[in-house]
Amino acid sequence: MYIGIDLGTSSVKMILTDSDQNILATANSGLTVQSPKDGYNEQDPHEWVNSTMECFESLKSQKPIEFCETISIGISGHMHGATLVDKDGEVIRPCILWNDTRSHEECNEFENQGIDVRSISGNITMPGFTAPKINWIKKHESENFSKIFKVLLPKDYLRFYLTGEYFSEMSDASGTLWLDIKKRKWSENLLSCSFLEEKHMPKLVEGNEEAGILKNKFKEKFNFKNNVTIVGGAGDNAAAAAGMGITEQSQSFISLGTSGVFFTPTQNFLSNTGDAVHSFCHCLPNKWHLMSVMLSASNCLDWVCSITNTSIGEALTNVEKYFSDTNDLSNSSFFLPYLSGERTPHNDPYIRGSFHSMKTTTNSTNLQYAVIEGISFGILDGVNSILKVNNNFEKIFMVGGGSKSKFWIELLASLLNRKLSVCDQSEFGAALGVARLAMYVDKNIDKKENIIKEINVSKSFTPKQDKIDLLLKRYNIWRDIYSSNKKIASNLLT
Ligand code: XUL
Repeated sequence: MYIGIDLGTSSVKMILTDSDQNILATANSGLTVQSPKDGYNEQDPHEWVNSTMECFESLKSQKPIEFCETISIGISGHMHGATLVDKDGEVIRPCILWNDTRSHEECNEFENQGIDVRSISGNITMPGFTAPKINWIKKHESENFSKIFKVLLPKDYLRFYLTGEYFSEMSDASGTLWLDIKKRKWSENLLSCSFLEEKHMPKLVEGNEEAGILKNKFKEKFNFKNNVTIVGGAGDNAAAAAGMGITEQSQSFISLGTSGVFFTPTQNFLSNTGDAVHSFCHCLPNKWHLMSVMLSASNCLDWVCSITNTSIGEALTNVEKYFSDTNDLSNSSFFLPYLSGERTPHNDPYIRGSFHSMKTTTNSTNLQYAVIEGISFGILDGVNSILKVNNNFEKIFMVGGGSKSKFWIELLASLLNRKLSVCDQSEFGAALGVARLAMYVDKNIDKKENIIKEINVSKSFTPKQDKIDLLLKRYNIWRDIYSSNKKIASNLLT
């Protein structure tokens, strides 16, 4: 048996699988996010631990015999968070999360120290990434900075709690900006830009390699029969890709979740820092991936539905009807989906969301359509940014809450002018990905190459020819709206 743990932003999710990858039990335990100021998002690492313990208990109560036969565990987690521990292994302050934008000024400081950050790290410095968060701590909380013994990513703190060992792996470490992405090792030069050294970092392994053994006290507490190995695991997007079997360059996925992601594996290191494309190591050796990230995707839809007092289901039905009438569409409003700034392609922490071209006749459905269309335009921006350096993907799988809407996928298929496939997915995709990585250390499995399998497609959607030109025309106008808004965006934030 294998356990996959996914430390998400809103909950810890856990699964127990057998050697045929059947999911025997699942568990979920909620987490909170603290936002002490606009743009600040933090989490208490002790909550991760408590929720993880609750999930272990829950799996055990569902499948007591199988649970105790666990051989290995994989951990996935939300990326980029800065978890600081002191020399006694105690947490110094709450973890500053991936969606925290307080360090936008420190991004320049990090990049302007005479080191070629972009070519070594493969990425542009964005406030979401770990490095500028540490520069912020040095500037604003010097006492906390001086106590730093290790800087850990969220899932690697959880591993430390479970094993007592400091390890990370390539996919998550890529999001720190301290990794030499091509060489897959920490870069002393990049670390020096945050006034850190390699001794502050955990050791690195690949996602499918051993990275610690569960402490005896947990072995006894949960009655595990074996010495349970924990593998490197993966950052949440790489883990989700492993869960869907996306490790080859012909494959890709679009995730319409809270954030909007386009992800495609590459055989070599490639990058496009000019468009704020994320260039990261994949969670298997000798594989990399490119990724575009929109900070607000389906949460823009949640937002507009809540302020227009409409359920999401109702909004999608109304919008579908509206979309079918092309005359309506050509006269429709526009929405910039930048509720918390944007990463790809703008790297713009100042921009915010806005509606454009509102008329006396504009109603709730028009606004809801503009939001769905605006999010889709953001996805196209991401795909286009990746296409500038990599044209190898053919298959595109749709995942995340938004992919449950047939209408939305049809719209995206027409906008991207590509076939899109919907999969039999569950909210446990990232947990499955790392449970699969955990199988690599099981000596009883001979054919490791069969562990990662492609997910089943339940339905495919092709572009609707009559919508393609109209959508592209509107996309070009939408891009102009961003360009003009960008000029005033920083003046609007107080
Ligand atoms: C990726 C990113 C998010 C977080 C939270 O760069 O910031 O996907 O990992 O899910």
